[in-house]
Amino acid sequence: MGNPVVELKNVTKVIKGKKIIDNLSFTIEEGEVFGFLGPNGAGKTTTIRMMVGLMKITSGEILICGKNVEKEFEEALMNIGGIVENPELYKFLTGYQNLMQYARMIKGVTKQKIDEVVEFVGLTDRIHDKVKTYSLGMRQRLGLAQCLLHDPKVMILDEPTNGLDPAGIREIRDHLKKLTKEKGMSVIVSSHLLSEMEMMCDRIAIIQNGKLIDIQKVHDYVAESKQNYFFEVDIENLPFLNISYKKVEKAIEIELEKDEVPDMIQLLIEKGIRIFEVKPVTKSLEDRFLEVTTKGEKFHA
Ligand SMILES: Nc1ncnc2c1ncn2[C@@H]1O[C@H](COP(=O)(O)OP(=O)(O)O)[C@@H](O)[C@H]1O
Ligand SMILES: [Mg+2]
Repeated sequence: MGNPVVELKNVTKVIKGKKIIDNLSFTIEEGEVFGFLGPNGAGKTTTIRMMVGLMKITSGEILICGKNVEKEFEEALMNIGGIVENPELYKFLTGYQNLMQYARMIKGVTKQKIDEVVEFVGLTDRIHDKVKTYSLGMRQRLGLAQCLLHDPKVMILDEPTNGLDPAGIREIRDHLKKLTKEKGMSVIVSSHLLSEMEMMCDRIAIIQNGKLIDIQKVHDYVAESKQNYFFEVDIENLPFLNISYKKVEKAIEIELEKDEVPDMIQLLIEKGIRIFEVKPVTKSLEDRFLEVTTKGEKFHA
């Protein structure tokens, strides 16, 4: 990590006098899965459309591998593979014919390369069947294969799991991880579903009303410095404790920093309390998400 692959610098988009995207700046590094998370209408697709050169940028700039998307369009786009909304496929052709069709538009795609991407997305057995017989998940994977033909450095997928069943979602997730691990690519995915992003991404940018509300490592979301701990104790016979805590079923819950935990254990023992278990109350990404988005809401008002 450490090499910026995509850079957004103060990107703003105004449509008919309305600010759809408001001063977005962030950097995506080599080899990471980066997520855009936000409710419908937040501006995810608009941002992606600007990144892949499908829409003009009102002000600011986007660099892909150091190349300006608007001023050096071809050099920048060479590095991107992307599916905005749904992959465009010919349903009455086979998967293979679709790939051939697409390959004709790109210089230097060999038959070997086609076989390689088909293998990569796990469609080898079905590639000579017509696309109309494919499940949605298979179509997504064929779309992915199509985007891989020119060996891009960055793969951008707008809501790739929309409409997929859990098995399909899992497949996409595994393939995206494989892209970063085996090919060192960066992947940008958007979604309005937090749980999905949590499983798929290394970092997540939360977008709301066209603004960047927060950007964090998924890991950081779950492990904040201060958190609550459950101390399982004999709750019926608790002596007076001069600390703030909350009683929950068979335990007391106390907010602490990690290195305060041993002191708390000692204090409880000194009070004659028998401790059966100590464990952190993990804050889910969802809790954190609600925290930052409600903060953002207030901020916005
Ligand atoms: N071509 C357009 N003309 C006017 N408004 C648009 C256009 N494209 C998008 N918008 C508006 O921009 C906002 C963001 O849309 P979009 O980027 O599609 O959000 P998301 O992908 O996060 O659901 C929405 O309020 C949408 O109505
Ligand atoms: Mg969208």
